[in-house]
Amino acid sequence: MKKVLVATEKPFAKVAVEGIKKILDEAGYEMALLENYTLKTELIAAAAEAEAIIIRSDIIDQDVMDAAPKLEIVVRAGAGYDNIDLEAATKHGVVAMNTPGQNSNAVAELAIGLMVYAARNNFNGTSGTELKGKKLGLHAFGYVGKAVATIAKGFGMEVFAFDPFVSKEKMEAEGIHCVDKVEDLYSKCQYISLHMPSNAQTKKSINSQLLSLMPKGATVINTARKEVIDEDGLLAIFGERPDFRYMSDVEPDNKLVIAEKFSGKFFFTPKKMGAQTSEANNNAGLAAARQIVDFFEKGDKSFQVNK
Ligand code: 3PG
Repeated sequence: MKKVLVATEKPFAKVAVEGIKKILDEAGYEMALLENYTLKTELIAAAAEAEAIIIRSDIIDQDVMDAAPKLEIVVRAGAGYDNIDLEAATKHGVVAMNTPGQNSNAVAELAIGLMVYAARNNFNGTSGTELKGKKLGLHAFGYVGKAVATIAKGFGMEVFAFDPFVSKEKMEAEGIHCVDKVEDLYSKCQYISLHMPSNAQTKKSINSQLLSLMPKGATVINTARKEVIDEDGLLAIFGERPDFRYMSDVEPDNKLVIAEKFSGKFFFTPKKMGAQTSEANNNAGLAAARQIVDFFEKGDKSFQVNK
């Protein structure tokens, strides 16, 4: 009987856990659940017998894989897989997958919610502004970027995107403007929403030079990863631009300095909340369980990310 560990420091909604269990039960697999854990040693102990693991932002590194000799597959129920050591996975012969697109609507709704919150001055009772007629720049145009574009158009925003991996034709087919140079996106758009993965190319790439190009009322929404922001640059721009606002689902490491000096100009969720809806948990969790069953039963490696 295959053993599948669901290891979620930030648990899925109950309905998603029940759905995952049902899929695994029907396949004749055994599910173990490790939720709300605080220590890496708990994850290491739970992984010992696992042949498959479903995770969210949980970190699967060399130590976890060393401690899981039977492990064949890890599925990140979600988009970003920067929390899996892909080299170690390949070395251990472990297939790593994600579940692209499954939680993107939840993240997109949060990005728009953060935009509204910023436009209304963090609901502090003063007169704010509207999103209608404003320019929104999507930095990266994957599943989340596309979902944000759809909602933003409903608000009457004019949407632009920069993504070197997506063609102009694809963007135009979605009714948005393609921007060829990242600098042009930042100089055109009062609102910028970040949707790129965190990797060697993107880490600290959102720096003060780029942010300083933004027009008056500059508002950056980060539901991607805190690592893509250059935090020194962020502090510098807050200092130089009284109009600058930063709303993020992932609080920066220097949040206390920002909180002390720039009150009212930011918002950080206390815990990453973008994908924390029962629908997103269900979509991503069930997709992860199905991918595991398809991998064991049919050798299906679609969505493998360590090829
Ligand atoms: C993702 O990469 O899918 C999102 O950042 C969601 O992460 P979470 O599953 O930890 O909420």
